[in-house]
Amino acid sequence: MKPVKVGLLGLGTVGAGVVRIVEGNQEDLSSQVGSPIVIERIAVKNVDKPRDIEVDAALITTDPWEVIRDPEIDVIVEVMGGIAGTKEYILEALELGKHIVTANKDLMALHGSEILAKAQEKQCDVFYEASVAGGIPIIRTLIEGFSSDKIKKIMGIVNGTTNYILSKMSQEGASYHDVLKEAQGLGYAESDPTSDVEGLDAARKMAILGTLGFRTNVELNDVSVSGISGVSKEDIAFAKRLGYDMKLLGIAECEDEEFSISVQPTMIRTGHPLASVNGVFNAVYVYGQAVGETMFYGAGAGAMPTATSIVADLVAVIKNLKLGVNGLKQIVPYKQKKLKSDEDIFYKNFLLLHVDDKAGVLAKITQVFAEYEVSLDSVVQQANANNPDAEIIIVTHNASKASMNKVLRHLEELPVIHRVKSHYRVEG
Ligand SMILES: NC(=O)c1ccc[n+]([C@@H]2O[C@H](COP(=O)([O-])OP(=O)(O)OC[C@H]3O[C@@H](n4cnc5c(N)ncnc54)[C@H](OP(=O)(O)O)[C@@H]3O)[C@@H](O)[C@H]2O)c1
Repeated sequence: MKPVKVGLLGLGTVGAGVVRIVEGNQEDLSSQVGSPIVIERIAVKNVDKPRDIEVDAALITTDPWEVIRDPEIDVIVEVMGGIAGTKEYILEALELGKHIVTANKDLMALHGSEILAKAQEKQCDVFYEASVAGGIPIIRTLIEGFSSDKIKKIMGIVNGTTNYILSKMSQEGASYHDVLKEAQGLGYAESDPTSDVEGLDAARKMAILGTLGFRTNVELNDVSVSGISGVSKEDIAFAKRLGYDMKLLGIAECEDEEFSISVQPTMIRTGHPLASVNGVFNAVYVYGQAVGETMFYGAGAGAMPTATSIVADLVAVIKNLKLGVNGLKQIVPYKQKKLKSDEDIFYKNFLLLHVDDKAGVLAKITQVFAEYEVSLDSVVQQANANNPDAEIIIVTHNASKASMNKVLRHLEELPVIHRVKSHYRVEG
């Protein structure tokens, strides 16, 4: 049995996990694919860096091109991250007929269509299961498990950092800044957390899921994004009082071949399966026209969960190699892209307004909603001991995003309103 030779780009958190699984599960893996799997070469940035995994020093190089151009290597596993340079490595590897397994959501969200087109031209596999929700096999599920269905909605908690922060704020009544600092100390948040907390990381993953779910080319620019840095502990307390949990949700919906896609802090009904996903865990909820509701839950990151997905992709590549079908199952989006306009995107809204504490204010406010035909589910007015303003909490019925934008603009101009303190989408 001729071994299948793998080149590894990166030996960090995930790369070390890949080596552990390939070595630790070698017997099982080679029984499944019919050949031993050998890690032939590994590229790192710094050879002298101390590592908590032992690998033969002769395998290591600081030059990724040595790995890519090694004629012995059949499959490149890219776990170094980065975008521009990494794209060049991957395109060259495909040009040379090598198959790719990558965990790189940034690369796939931004350049996936170019990479997949190259893979199709060269009849190579490009698998990227680990790029979304680490250890949860959601990509293969969307491509294969739901191939017979029409997916109507995908909702994802796909960023562990923000889910950890919001869960802690909710459980301990703590402030965003305090929990962020703690998360940085524990290594759950980067020292520059912008990409996570402002929703960009989740948006990239949702673009990948939307592309696969709706079989059309969803690009990052199609995702409307807002992050969690403006979420206060008071907002979370209000959400709880009304029977909701606050989550950073990616929401992709498709109706009559038109889709909308967004990432935003969302108040989700406490009984919804996504509401109980806490800490760094991830979950993806998929609603299919025929299958109805499904949900996939697990570790969204970490060396071993992520490496599990990567090595499963490696197994898929090698099985395809044995069958001579590499590149044939590549999913290149085939449907024409149709984005919904704001007039056609409907959801419920939560608003917290700080207003003059005097008679007649509520009537003026409800009149604005009536003017744009946004109907209200509930309105609560209360005094706030720490604030001379009164607080008005409004939950709307389903309203179009366009109408809500008009309502918000109008409310901001009303002299009786001091501040539109918070506005969130409501789900479930
Ligand atoms: N960490 C997770 O839980 C997780 C989950 C899902 C997906 N991912 C994705 O997986 C990828 C890797 O993440 P990670 O957490 O393992 O990153 P990491 O710990 O920072 O490891 C990156 C590795 O790549 C090497 N490297 C970086 N630039 C290089 C270059 N120009 N040439 C050669 N080697 C280079 C580094 O070398 P040195 O070791 O010498 O520094 C290191 O070994 C990223 O795309 C990430 O988004 C990670």
